[in-house]
Amino acid sequence: MAKPVTQFICSACGATHKKWSGRCEACGEWNCIAEEAPLSAGPGKAALGAAKGKRIGLSDLRTQETPPPRRTSGMAEFDRVLGGGLVPASATLVGGDPGIGKSTLLLQAAASFARAGAKVIYVSGEEATAQVRMRAQRLGLADSAVMLAAETNLRDILTTLEAEAPDLAIIDSIQTMWLDTVEAAPGSVSQVRASAHELTTFAKRRGVSVMLVGHVTKEGQIAGPRVVEHMVDTVLYFEGERGHQFRILRSVKNRFGPADEIGVFEMTGAGLAEVANPSALFLSDRDAPAPGAVVFAGMEGTRPVLVEIQALVAPSSLSQPRRAVVGWDSGRLSMILAVLEARAGISFAGLDVYLNIAGGLRISEPAADLAVAAALLSAREDTALAQDGVIFGELSLSGALRPVAQAENRLKEAAKLGFSTAIAPTGCKFGTAGGVKVQEMADLPRFVGEIFGAG
Ligand code: TYD
Ligand code: MG
Repeated sequence: MAKPVTQFICSACGATHKKWSGRCEACGEWNCIAEEAPLSAGPGKAALGAAKGKRIGLSDLRTQETPPPRRTSGMAEFDRVLGGGLVPASATLVGGDPGIGKSTLLLQAAASFARAGAKVIYVSGEEATAQVRMRAQRLGLADSAVMLAAETNLRDILTTLEAEAPDLAIIDSIQTMWLDTVEAAPGSVSQVRASAHELTTFAKRRGVSVMLVGHVTKEGQIAGPRVVEHMVDTVLYFEGERGHQFRILRSVKNRFGPADEIGVFEMTGAGLAEVANPSALFLSDRDAPAPGAVVFAGMEGTRPVLVEIQALVAPSSLSQPRRAVVGWDSGRLSMILAVLEARAGISFAGLDVYLNIAGGLRISEPAADLAVAAALLSAREDTALAQDGVIFGELSLSGALRPVAQAENRLKEAAKLGFSTAIAPTGCKFGTAGGVKVQEMADLPRFVGEIFGAG
């Protein structure tokens, strides 16, 4: 048998490399490559081809499957992001920055599931049971039926879970788990991968739903949640800006439901409170009409969300003017600035540009293009746009406006929040438009001409 050679594994994305380097070629992260012993092929396993496996059963696509039964927690925002509740025997990863509130969220979810009749075990590898109990007291969950353990030895945890057979097991966090069959430190790529593999196969085999907490790490000291994303059924990320009061739980992968669904929570002294109407929250601290502020009617998953986009444009003293963005893609901002210059003759040369999505939301929808362009123009021209209007539309490089999906839902949400006009691309399916008066635009030059009286 060939002598096992050590491998170099990226702790961010899990790619393997033959030699060490400062930067992972697969994902582009710096300082994330660590040396690890390879996983052994397992004792007594013959090479493929030498020994035949057994034949597997095949079936067809026509057989009707009943949709998976779901267990709801009664925490509506959490259930929604899961795709309508927890699927039995599923594995879910909840990732997020350290300190963002993952343990708090999952303890609250655990208590909600327990209240709804599920048997829930919460295993913390990071805190002692006394600490978890203190948190539960602070959250007003002290008399919940959730069972606790503080343990990192996965073999013991699996034995316990097998004996207890809970409906839901929460493992906080996967990076603290440790499997004695793998010769690597907890948090290393091999440990995290092997532990996640054991837990997900356990979930399938025993019909237990498993939720894994994964810290996102920048430094590469411990493996990030990305190395287990492909193993689990559902991947949720808990995100939010520090200094902002609310947190967003976003599904980025879901084998049982729609991805890109969000749940919105507000941080309070007594834990996370659900926000049933996020648009009202995101727009709540809107000031008097101001140049550079535009309300974008967006969609997050299946749910319409209105959010204010703010731009500031000021003369620059730098040879290379600043382009600073919070909550949006900076590459996309450069694109919009280029389209404004090339198609509408409006230059931002010599001007610093700042763009901010109010409230700490991150937007990735191209439908925000027109709202961003409007905010930039409004800031540059120092003219405030109508207070009662919303904007949406995707901008192409030619300067044409592309219709976007879910126009009717966006407008209905706008109507619900008291907006009465909208600017949108020609050709969207507006339906009844929720009673909102829509001004349709075919391209950027026309938009600039009609709204700002310039071309
Ligand atoms: P925690 O849940 O421990 O974060 P994570 O598990 O992601 O590392 O929360 C971090 C801190 O924030 C903790 O001290 C509790 C506090 N916190 C609140 O006070 N209220 C809240 O609603 C949340 C979510 C957290
Ligand atoms: Mg934690």
